[in-house]
Amino acid sequence: MNMPKSDALVIFGATGDLVYKMIFPALYAMQRKGNLHVPVIGVARSDWTIDRFRARARASIEQQVDFDEAVFAKLAKRLQYISGDYGVATTHAALRKKLGDAAHPLHFLAIPPSVFPKVIKALGESGCAKGARVIVEKPFGRDLLTAKKLSATLHTVFDESNIFRIDHYLGKESVQNLLVFRFANTFLEPVWNREFIQSVQITMAEDFGVKGRGGFYEESGAIRDVIENHLFQVVGFLAMESPQTTSQESIRDELAKLFQMIRPLSAEDVVRGQFRGYREEEGVASDSNVETFAAARLHIDSPRWEGVPFFIRAGKCLPTTMTEVLVMFKPPVLTNLCPGQANYVRFQLSPDVTIAMGARVKRPGDKLIGDQTELKVVDRPHGDEMTAYERLLGDAMVGDGNLFAGQEGVEAAWRIVESVLDLETPVLEYEPGTWGPPEAEKLSAGTCGCNSASSILRPVLEVGTTKR
Ligand code: BG6
Repeated sequence: MNMPKSDALVIFGATGDLVYKMIFPALYAMQRKGNLHVPVIGVARSDWTIDRFRARARASIEQQVDFDEAVFAKLAKRLQYISGDYGVATTHAALRKKLGDAAHPLHFLAIPPSVFPKVIKALGESGCAKGARVIVEKPFGRDLLTAKKLSATLHTVFDESNIFRIDHYLGKESVQNLLVFRFANTFLEPVWNREFIQSVQITMAEDFGVKGRGGFYEESGAIRDVIENHLFQVVGFLAMESPQTTSQESIRDELAKLFQMIRPLSAEDVVRGQFRGYREEEGVASDSNVETFAAARLHIDSPRWEGVPFFIRAGKCLPTTMTEVLVMFKPPVLTNLCPGQANYVRFQLSPDVTIAMGARVKRPGDKLIGDQTELKVVDRPHGDEMTAYERLLGDAMVGDGNLFAGQEGVEAAWRIVESVLDLETPVLEYEPGTWGPPEAEKLSAGTCGCNSASSILRPVLEVGTTKR
């Protein structure tokens, strides 16, 4: 079907953090590559002039990417600004006027979810939603019930095909590559299952804290912020069955099916931590029980994965910033050729993109003994690749929902974490700069058989840097 291209981009919450960090640089990149052809209308409560809005865009771009005055001048010309309360008729009337002849606006809701209902209603009533698309940001709701309510609210005005739920991990090259690497390599498929794989470990480590987003984090915590969405998408791409086609429906269907096969987490499957100092952050309660670190053990009840644990962990104030997947194979029969070592595939998803395989080769010399080595198959420095937001904004503008979360998958993901949200058991404190509470390692006790006798939940970089 020929989808109409969006002819205006409206950003609600235009003075906020997300727009500053992600959207302005994405728009600038689109402009630089000649991929932005529409007016960009910012809407926010702040009583700003258009000049102040442009200055904010300039500051964001100058701070984050190579700045070219001529490119920025073109982008700045596209920017417009409306100051007004969200969901109020006058704001939306002003928006309708600014939209002029635009018949297919794309509305990006970079605003707190609590304001969604009135904004969506006002978009409908003002006529701004006619022929339009809408983008919402993760987390989609706070739990299963609110996720369903959010969808119901969106559906009062927008068809599902015009709703774009952004989880920017789906827009990352490195995450998409998981799908390609799995399904485009014949050698992998026969061994990508419980017969050969011992465990899968996914780590999203960040060496910084909540960066002034204490208020947001108090409402969210690591499970809602990154595990239930970003890391589950990674699990999905690693574990799902082959989609019938590369279409939006096929991939979404397979992801949703996979999430439905993941056993709902129980408290014993989760370790929650909080870095020392979090409670002193602005907007954080002095007795906060919100986790800044979480590790979980997932079980996938499917013929392919039965019995293979998927360990996932994410945390703030850890020793490094990187997201990495480690797929450990079972040890070979002749373990005396290389005791204690097994093959692995390692995908580093960020900051650098690497695919590596842990393999054993003969140690030079007279003995028939193997050494562990790592074959790095891809190690791509950051170049002119599209950022996730650049890609996703571009896709939403042409109505391509391939890389957006589907309602069914979102609900299935909430079902998995539902019983471990807002646990009342106290969070375990950890020192900034460590790998979270040591209790996290107990999750994997007895399941390793790979690089470390004690636990697979070790800093994965230690595995990645093993040298002959
Ligand atoms: C966001 C989370 O969705 O993802 C942040 O709200 C997190 O807490 C960020 O830092 C990480 O994204 P990336 O692309 O830097 O891995």
